[in-house]
Amino acid sequence: MQPKDLLSLASAFGSPLYVYDAEKIASQYARLTDAFSKTGSLRINYAVKALSNIAILKLFRKLGAGLDTVSIQEVQLGLHAGFEPNKIIYTPNGVSFEEIEEAAHLGVQINIDNLSVLEHFGARYPKVPVCIRINPHVMAGGNSNISVGHIDSKFGISIHQMPHILRIVENTGMHINGIHMHTGSDILDIEVFLYAAEILFDAAKHFATLDFLDFGSGFKVPYKKGDIQTDIEELGRKLSKRFNAFEKEYGRKLTLAFEPGKFLVSEAGYFLAKVNVVKQTTSTVFAGIDSGFNHLIRPMLYGSQHYIENISNTKGKERFYTVVGYICETDTFANNCRIHEISEGNILCFHNAGAYCFSMSSNYNSRFRPAEVLWYNGKGLLIRERETFDDLLKNQVDVALD
Ligand SMILES: Cc1ncc(COP(=O)(O)O)c(C=O)c1O
Repeated sequence: MQPKDLLSLASAFGSPLYVYDAEKIASQYARLTDAFSKTGSLRINYAVKALSNIAILKLFRKLGAGLDTVSIQEVQLGLHAGFEPNKIIYTPNGVSFEEIEEAAHLGVQINIDNLSVLEHFGARYPKVPVCIRINPHVMAGGNSNISVGHIDSKFGISIHQMPHILRIVENTGMHINGIHMHTGSDILDIEVFLYAAEILFDAAKHFATLDFLDFGSGFKVPYKKGDIQTDIEELGRKLSKRFNAFEKEYGRKLTLAFEPGKFLVSEAGYFLAKVNVVKQTTSTVFAGIDSGFNHLIRPMLYGSQHYIENISNTKGKERFYTVVGYICETDTFANNCRIHEISEGNILCFHNAGAYCFSMSSNYNSRFRPAEVLWYNGKGLLIRERETFDDLLKNQVDVALD
């Protein structure tokens, strides 16, 4: 998107504002499906947690994707957005058994990552097809919070517990139709991915009735020009070849599934915020914006560095700024970074604001969550209204304390 389009959206819808470019989402989806075009059957399940606005879900439905969900509420959002239940996979971790039952009754694909839950579910619902989430014990991912396939992780059933899995499957007579893994986000080295894939192939050989192998996600996207990213095209070539060979060996048609979030929506998102104050101290020039980690927590939580552009002044002299929010604790988006000269009232644009940005926002400091706009066919469609004071009071019970 061009700075002038973003600027006009900020002036039409106010700030702070999230903007998502539908064309970029579609082109990332096409890039992924093209990279795996040599695979007989491919399924892309968009990870709803990355960005869950129903307009975005509808866009993915239009593109032909399925959904990856982690809570019953995400399942319900997917159904609300018009997805057939069989296009939704539900991969919970640590939820109640009742929630898993509810998802099963809604008809979505259940993915289980715990031996006791597997046993309980198999005993109760032996006819419901189940996918098993394996923990391959591979350390991969950009940050410890998002590296989830290692030995100390709470996710998945350890690959070393395969004999237990097989005993449960045999005793309950349950039907296993898929095997899944997700090692972490921001994986740079595709060799790590291919190594983990071999573990999944080995695990798959234990089951005769599989319909799909789900390789999770973890594709790294660039955050600035020249940044390293997962080479999707190379991964597509190598993994498709290996998958096709495995399918022959296995002797049954299989679908190759992925569940990306970041790869599909990160670069499509822009976060726009207005500079309230420019504050010169003895050491630093702060640009203080009308937002904070309540709206965009990734820099404080994961140390992510979002490229920040002054879209009100794209040609001025560059200066060093520390960009901060208005939250009453340390709330830094970027330290001493070069930005075209900033004046109070300018609009700053944070790139890569599609994934895990709005979906992780909160009302901390009793601030309203921002509006969201979908840039679709050259027009800005409002897909979520900015919150109001009524939203802050909603669900609060005003008791009399006499
Ligand atoms: C099980 C699972 N699948 C998919 C994803 C999406 O990962 P990414 O956004 O890196 O593509 C996640 C991210 O947390 C996940 O936990």
